[in-house]
Amino acid sequence: MKSLLVTGGAGFIGSNFIHYMLKKYDDYRIVNLDILTYAGNLENLKGVENNPNYRFVKGSITDDQLVGKLFREEDFDYVINFAAESHVDRSIEDPAIFIKTNIMGTQILLDAAKKHWQTGKDSQGYPAYKEGKKFFQVSTDEAYGSLGETGMFTETTNLAPNSPYSASKTSADLIVRAYSETFKMPVNITRCSNNYGPYQFPEKLIPLMIVNCLKGKSLPVYGDGMQIRDWLHVKDHCSAIDSVLHKGKPGEVYNVGGNNEKANIDIVKLIIDTVREKLSSNPDLSNHNYQLSTINYQLIKYVEDRLGHDRRYAIDNTKITTELGWSPSYTFETGMSQTIDWYLNNQDWLNNVINKDYLEYYDKMYSSK
Ligand code: NAD
Ligand code: TYD
Repeated sequence: MKSLLVTGGAGFIGSNFIHYMLKKYDDYRIVNLDILTYAGNLENLKGVENNPNYRFVKGSITDDQLVGKLFREEDFDYVINFAAESHVDRSIEDPAIFIKTNIMGTQILLDAAKKHWQTGKDSQGYPAYKEGKKFFQVSTDEAYGSLGETGMFTETTNLAPNSPYSASKTSADLIVRAYSETFKMPVNITRCSNNYGPYQFPEKLIPLMIVNCLKGKSLPVYGDGMQIRDWLHVKDHCSAIDSVLHKGKPGEVYNVGGNNEKANIDIVKLIIDTVREKLSSNPDLSNHNYQLSTINYQLIKYVEDRLGHDRRYAIDNTKITTELGWSPSYTFETGMSQTIDWYLNNQDWLNNVINKDYLEYYDKMYSSK
């Protein structure tokens, strides 16, 4: 058995990753360490909670005592660090928790891994480690900042994060890099573009627009809506992490993206058209009291732009595709259609997520826009 610490596994990507790994490998034990912030949801993990190869631990990556205890109990081979505060708008409202979780939490995990994996020193005085270990940092293309109309991010593009969120993620990357350079820790970093798919919390563009369509609420498009993101289905992100975990060269950074640039306003229109079409053609779904007549482009509301809003992201994925043989499997059209189906068919999940806290958050963030 391989023993894997997944942090933040109750969030969007982490929970998809746990499902993916437990389905694919029966010789992996996964320990999910998650503090269950507003974004952590154990409902995402229904179906694996009784799997004997899975253990959930409620706690923080910033708790060094707990992290050390888990290393001693579970003797991890790999750490995959998803745990983070992940939303740019929240980081503009309140940066402090981003610094604590994303930067300090990463350093605490690195330190625990170093202590637990180190066997001694090599002839040059560098730490030597047990065989087959890896620390995996799940990072973001937002570390590279923003692009103009042309060009793409490669792994050698300068790091130039603009938001408190991306600055905290970039800082964590640099600490991971430092542990690789100074302590020769076996690490990989992936920098992935925007993900979409099941279990994404409806504060991010795609699920927020789906939910608002269903509720007949306005669809808040920031600025002119012409900002571009490079979208990747979350399952393709999971398969990329799997590839890098098993084949990635220690010390290397890999960009992950699906060559799928879309302007925000085009995505919003696609969601309106698809939700409308699915509701009109499926009488079962129409029973849910949706107001089909209100689901049209008039729901779109151009609102005040995000501060420091990055204009365009685009990933050059040549390194991971050529060196590791990974490629995305979803087209955007199929991925979006399945994602909208998932939200339509998981009303209970949605209704539990859209609780009092969510509605308070929504009012606070959007009432002034
Ligand atoms: P998410 O917000 O859905 O989930 C984050 C999870 O981390 C939650 O379950 C939360 O409870 C947990 N968490 C937060 N603070 C914690 C702490 N102190 N200790 C333990 N757990 C804690 O985020 P996501 O969209 O699933 O993103 C996962 C990772 O991938 C993040 O590191 C993010 O920066 C990165 N990433 C996300 C995207 C994207 O499009 N969503 C793209 C590239 C990279
Ligand atoms: P988001 O999903 O927050 O991801 P990120 O900011 O990390 O890329 O936002 C994606 C894009 O959608 C981004 O350009 C901001 C924009 N956006 C809106 O126009 N309206 C919204 O309500 C949200 C949440 C995002």
